[in-house]
Amino acid sequence: MCRVCGGTVHEFFDFGRQPLSDAFLDPQGVEHEFFFRLAVGICESCTMTQLIDEVARDRMFHEAYPYHSSGSVRMRRHFEDTAQRLLDTHLTGPDPFIVEVGCNDGVMLKTVSKAGVRHLGVEPSGGVAELARAQGVRVRVDFFEESVAADIVARDGTADVIYAANTMCHIPYIGSIFRGVDALLAPDGVLVFEDPYLGDILQRNTFDQIYDEHFFFFTVRSVQNAAARFGFELVDVERLPVHGGELRYTIARAGRREPTPVVAEMVADERNRGLAAPSDFADFAASVNRIRDDLMNLLRGLRAEGKRVVGYGATAKSATVTNFCGIGPDLVSFVCDATPAKNGRLMPGSHIPVRSPEALADPYPDYAVLFAWNHAEEIMEKERAFREAGGRWILYVPEVHVV
Ligand code: SAM
Ligand code: TMP
Ligand code: ZN
Repeated sequence: MCRVCGGTVHEFFDFGRQPLSDAFLDPQGVEHEFFFRLAVGICESCTMTQLIDEVARDRMFHEAYPYHSSGSVRMRRHFEDTAQRLLDTHLTGPDPFIVEVGCNDGVMLKTVSKAGVRHLGVEPSGGVAELARAQGVRVRVDFFEESVAADIVARDGTADVIYAANTMCHIPYIGSIFRGVDALLAPDGVLVFEDPYLGDILQRNTFDQIYDEHFFFFTVRSVQNAAARFGFELVDVERLPVHGGELRYTIARAGRREPTPVVAEMVADERNRGLAAPSDFADFAASVNRIRDDLMNLLRGLRAEGKRVVGYGATAKSATVTNFCGIGPDLVSFVCDATPAKNGRLMPGSHIPVRSPEALADPYPDYAVLFAWNHAEEIMEKERAFREAGGRWILYVPEVHVV
């Protein structure tokens, strides 16, 4: 049943039994691994694309949640620019107040804090929340929902901006979120959120954006429908070049702001493209299966030739790729990742060891699968010496290729 409207959800792809994408394992603790069925479908009534099965939120977001938003220089810049934009546009009143849902390590709010603007990050994962505090960010360790929003407004008053990046799509209980926004947002305030765009996922075959934490896959139309259902209106949409293609949505209380022309333009574009019915996903499903076959053939061929292959970027996305394709340490001997909390652990499901980026050069392998393809430019630049030493990168989106 659709988590937005209660309509019927038609399943269009089943990735099978999958682990939690960010549940990196202690090499000693493997027997406690949790699995669920990762399948995705689309609602026939409101067009929202969503997972079929839901994982309990505290299994995913807790004290030891390992993802640090500040791990990429480019993303740090993206969020500094975002903060500056918000400060220059929606936060110019006498005593503005911004609430960020899912502030993680404070990558965005640290700029707001430095500007001396009133803010609050709501972040359930205690470990990353502590890192945000160390940056001077005010954080409440909680899941944002209706009751928490009511408590925030009682303590701090209404918010001019409620912002979320790569978090709204993580929250199945969208009704509680919108009711919370209704309670907390000032009459002319805005809800601004950015998440991977289903249109880009289909266009670029980035099937690895589908994993436990990514519950919703938004389109302009599905967000517009969802907002309207809760008394809000989509008033602006912006394309973002990060994480393989995202959209930033600006939502206001219904009738309070004139929607920009880009909203209608994007709705028209989506009408031409589809993105609204189960049959629109047939090509995508075929591509996912083809990519799996091509990648496995390539990796098995390289193993047969005695080549050394490692991975780069122990991303949440890579959990879907490795577990769906059946890639284990026999094909990819380890994965390099700079995140301290992932180092020395095993990747979920596949049990491929995670090592520091320094391990790449020790000695350089013949090939490295770039699981963090969304950070390709930054990583390839950092690891230029790998390529110079004759190493080759394997990419699997939009199709399997070697560079
Ligand atoms: N905003 C950062 C970014 O874009 O890099 C962090 C994104 S991270 C993928 C998602 C974050 O949302 C996690 O830190 C998680 O703990 C948090 N989160 C999950 N459910 C939440 C909720 N109900 N309220 C607030 N934060 C939540
Ligand atoms: P993401 O694609 O979800 O942002 O995750 C990127 C992962 O790649 C994260 O675990 C950090 C890692 N990473 C590196 O190890 N080195 C880098 O230079 C970058 C940008 C990311
Ligand atoms: Zn629906």
